[in-house]
Amino acid sequence: MPELVVDSVSKSYGSIRALRNVSFRVGDGEYFCILGPTGAGKTTLLKVISGLIRPDKGRVIIDGVDVTDFPPEVRNVSYMPQGYALFPHMTVWDNVAYGAGMKGLPEEKVADALKLVGLYHRRDSYPHELSGGQQQRIALARALAAGSKLLLLDEPLSALDILLNIELRYELKNLCRELDLTVLHVTHNVEEAMSIADRMMVLRKGVVQQIGSPREVYMNPANLFVANFLSEVNFIEGILRGIRLGLGVIETDKLGVIHVYTRPVRFWHVVVAYRPEDIVLSVDPPPTDLNVFRGRVVEREFIGIVTRFLVDVNGVEMHVNVWTSVAPDVKVDDYVYVHLPPRYGLIYPYPREGLMKAIAVE
Ligand SMILES: Nc1ncnc2c1ncn2[C@@H]1O[C@H](COP(=O)(O)OP(=O)(O)O)[C@@H](O)[C@H]1O
Ligand SMILES: [Mg+2]
Repeated sequence: MPELVVDSVSKSYGSIRALRNVSFRVGDGEYFCILGPTGAGKTTLLKVISGLIRPDKGRVIIDGVDVTDFPPEVRNVSYMPQGYALFPHMTVWDNVAYGAGMKGLPEEKVADALKLVGLYHRRDSYPHELSGGQQQRIALARALAAGSKLLLLDEPLSALDILLNIELRYELKNLCRELDLTVLHVTHNVEEAMSIADRMMVLRKGVVQQIGSPREVYMNPANLFVANFLSEVNFIEGILRGIRLGLGVIETDKLGVIHVYTRPVRFWHVVVAYRPEDIVLSVDPPPTDLNVFRGRVVEREFIGIVTRFLVDVNGVEMHVNVWTSVAPDVKVDDYVYVHLPPRYGLIYPYPREGLMKAIAVE
């Protein structure tokens, strides 16, 4: 039985439709990330599950019990709100014991929670005496002290700098696994979600875009928004003329014909998406003549482990990322070969609302 079922939940604030018919299931012990840009409805969704907000429609089922009409106190859900403000005038101990409007927890539970996050020895400190990472751990301890099996975390790592974020995300996941918790972890950080989620859900403007393992979602984005939100992509518009032995033949304005492997599809006006790291750049002609183009280097940017090239191919600008250690020795204005491997192209119907609107984050 799934631990949590969210079934057709909708919630509007006046004319703003924050959640539209949202449905998903989270299994027992699963680490489930909800990923989406600001305004996607992530916080609203956690509030609906925790009971702080009543949905306009739909149901929330926890452990087989329909809790939609239950108040937060009896749902047996731990919730760490976005921003996790600690009370500055309270000690670490009191923050955990009395935080989040609780009546005060038994000493044993407070001590256990503080030990779990490794900060029992700082119980008499005040928040300003702690580092950002330690404050984050206290907020987590506060949520954990409630002792529920289902833990809701709203952007738990977003206030931390990148190194601390990376360190704490694994710590967080390991701790939750040790405690055998079922976790909903909300974030707008793509890498954070992909690195720790067992499964994830991409949310945009209150609408579920895709649910799957990070790998499934990354390898096979359900639509242009997801493809573009997960990582930068190059878009090529064209007309699908036919599919031969799985290889789609696409006529484009500026690149001529390109070939991309595809399942059978029922649309013909298409957008093909290529990730910058899937495009091959070389000085010498590559050993194929499918999807090979000549282009001029417009920009070359060294960003450490990767070097980014912007290449102009017949007026189409393509971003290509190459491992710095194997990046060819070419400069701006040099000519290079650009190869689009047919198996890496992602094909989508051309969006009715236009490409820019389809991928817009706001
Ligand atoms: N109390 C509120 N009153 C009016 N609009 C709200 C309220 N809370 C959230 N919203 C709006 O609902 C949408 C979803 O918000 P939110 O759930 O906070 O998204 P996220 O957490 O993904 O950033 C946004 O457009 C936001 O402005
Ligand atoms: Mg939010």
